[in-house]
Amino acid sequence: MLECRNVTVRFGGLTAVKNMNLQVQQGTIHSLIGPNGAGKTTLFNAITRLVQAQEGDILLEGRSIIGERTEDIIRHGMVRTFQNLQLSPFQTVRDNIMAGLVHTWQGGAWSALLAKHSRFMDEAADKVRAAAELFGIQNRLGSLVAGLPYGLLKKVELARALAGNPSIILLDEPAAGLNNDETAELDEILTLLKSRGQTIVLVEHDMSLVMRISDAVTVMNFGQLIADGRPAEVAKNPDVIRVYLGGDYGA
Ligand SMILES: Nc1ncnc2c1ncn2[C@@H]1O[C@H](COP(=O)(O)OP(=O)(O)OP(=O)(O)O)[C@@H](O)[C@H]1O
Ligand SMILES: [Mg+2]
Repeated sequence: MLECRNVTVRFGGLTAVKNMNLQVQQGTIHSLIGPNGAGKTTLFNAITRLVQAQEGDILLEGRSIIGERTEDIIRHGMVRTFQNLQLSPFQTVRDNIMAGLVHTWQGGAWSALLAKHSRFMDEAADKVRAAAELFGIQNRLGSLVAGLPYGLLKKVELARALAGNPSIILLDEPAAGLNNDETAELDEILTLLKSRGQTIVLVEHDMSLVMRISDAVTVMNFGQLIADGRPAEVAKNPDVIRVYLGGDYGA
């Protein structure tokens, strides 16, 4: 479904991602873990073409996307969320989720005035509602984003990512800042999405969540791959244990 082959990303003299390989199978939850600064977000940025990889190739459904623009990649069905929320605070929840559908508009500027546009808007409203219902936030669609609690904002961002029915979603630390109940809810939602065939790539520091829901886990340290496999195998890997015991995690 998604494949990184020997991807290297440098920022000046710093190599943030070095010769990384990643193979995400369709319909799985694949977690990418590693200590702070390991290069996880940078690899997401390279995959979604927000930064340029200097070496290697990235394939989506067998096709190289290394030369494509971010907008094209979204059109191919790959969407992401950000480690720091990226919502428009002075718009409503509805408008923020709707922003996830802009790329699905097939008409040009002129046809925006025509019936085609009103049909698009009706369908978009249905998709926004369906995405909001998945997260139980349908009664908040009219609220301004500014001032809403953090856990709810995380749901808005996930709803926006999912509104356009992506084939693969990349989530950068969706559980960060959530309390236990909210994390349990996230666990349920990700499991539900997987049962519907959704492919999910997850960067996450919450190891109990990662170990519980992942089909596969890839571990990075200093930009490089150090382990790859099923959660139980990876958890036993001596290199992984060393990295985590040496860090702040203790597990
Ligand atoms: N735009 C940039 N310019 C320069 N250096 C960068 C840039 N983005 C990331 N880096 C550096 O690349 C390295 C990898 O950072 P990255 O954000 O990918 O790590 P991460 O694994 O996502 O960490 P965290 O778990 O803290 O989010 C770090 O040393 C970081 O400082
Ligand atoms: Mg990061």
